[in-house]
Amino acid sequence: MQAIQISEKVYWVGAIDWNIRDFHGYSTHRGTTYNAYLVLGDKPVLIDTVKKEFYEEMMARIRSVIDPATIHIIVSLHSEMDHSGALPRAVAEIKPEEVYVSPMGMKHITAQFHRDLKLKTVKNGDEISIGNDTLTFIEARMLHWPDSMVTYLEKERILFSNDIFGMHYATSQLFDDENEERIWKYEAEKYYANIILPYSDIVTRFLGQIKQMGLSPNIIAPDHGFIWRKDPTKIVELYGKWAAQRPTRKAVVVYDTMWGSTAKMATAIADGIREGGVTVKVMCMHGCDRSAVATELLDAGALVVGSPVLNSQFFPSMADVLCYLKGLRKKHLIGAAFGSYGWNGAPLDGLSKTLEEMGVEIISPVLKTSFVPEESVLSSCRELGVTISKTLAEKVK
Ligand code: FEO
Repeated sequence: MQAIQISEKVYWVGAIDWNIRDFHGYSTHRGTTYNAYLVLGDKPVLIDTVKKEFYEEMMARIRSVIDPATIHIIVSLHSEMDHSGALPRAVAEIKPEEVYVSPMGMKHITAQFHRDLKLKTVKNGDEISIGNDTLTFIEARMLHWPDSMVTYLEKERILFSNDIFGMHYATSQLFDDENEERIWKYEAEKYYANIILPYSDIVTRFLGQIKQMGLSPNIIAPDHGFIWRKDPTKIVELYGKWAAQRPTRKAVVVYDTMWGSTAKMATAIADGIREGGVTVKVMCMHGCDRSAVATELLDAGALVVGSPVLNSQFFPSMADVLCYLKGLRKKHLIGAAFGSYGWNGAPLDGLSKTLEEMGVEIISPVLKTSFVPEESVLSSCRELGVTISKTLAEKVK
């Protein structure tokens, strides 16, 4: 296992997780990486560790450059286990002089490992000299945990950005210019939609803070995916755009179906949306997962949800995806609900209620049908689609 040099003094010493497909409920079809970085100052520094299962991989990469015992400082930018899982073993083996965390990191890491790791805190704006360069720390609370921070290597102008600007994408090609834009754009967007979205206002403030501090990184080195060296401004600009959450003329219809009735309604609604001139994406929860829905919704302006009734509840798969989307707090959506039932349509009102709780502007009462929709019901579905389309087009000029 070899380290990969990313600048004169800095090496990537992380791990590639080719096989992970579920990252606490986020579908990671292309795997991920856990990035750790070795900075060869007069006092060598290890920035972040990896998931505990990848400890040996990280240590082998470090050994390919220096003796790990010469590392003076370990920095933990974020206490989530994919970056801190290997920290206790690393501290025990390396025996660094200092282990730096944010003030909230002190609480989190202590609560996770319940042992004395000789932690010291660094606050917003603190600087640490590593001999031939300086690390400046910037707290980034709630991006995406309360303890999150980033650090900037002054002379080499490298921003170690923690989870920010990353993506779940396992790749042996460690730099932006070595990866296919078609793929990384989707994965970066998916990562934002599933991890960062609820904190969009904080993203906007964070981008402003970076600008105000006059930082202009040559390289952005996140904790997942590849490193931005060719054009780091590209991902910064994308974050600015995504954080603004400006809706486009796009609707997402999400549904599940038992015997095909709700599917017929979804198709008719989608036809109406398209007739009205708005782009529509139809997603059945039999065939796609909640992370894919969240990704499609990132630039959408309308969310339409449909379900059958099962045991006096709307379908469990719809409860799952709605619970997930509610947590992501997407703004500026209009929406409506629909569904088919056998003998009790009341549970379908819960779909609309959930949309309301998500802050979606409801533009029509729940459209329901008993058993199989006849032509008049499908006609109403098409009309609902046209109404959604026109309302959205009016809002998004
Ligand atoms: Fe990649 Fe929040 O851990």
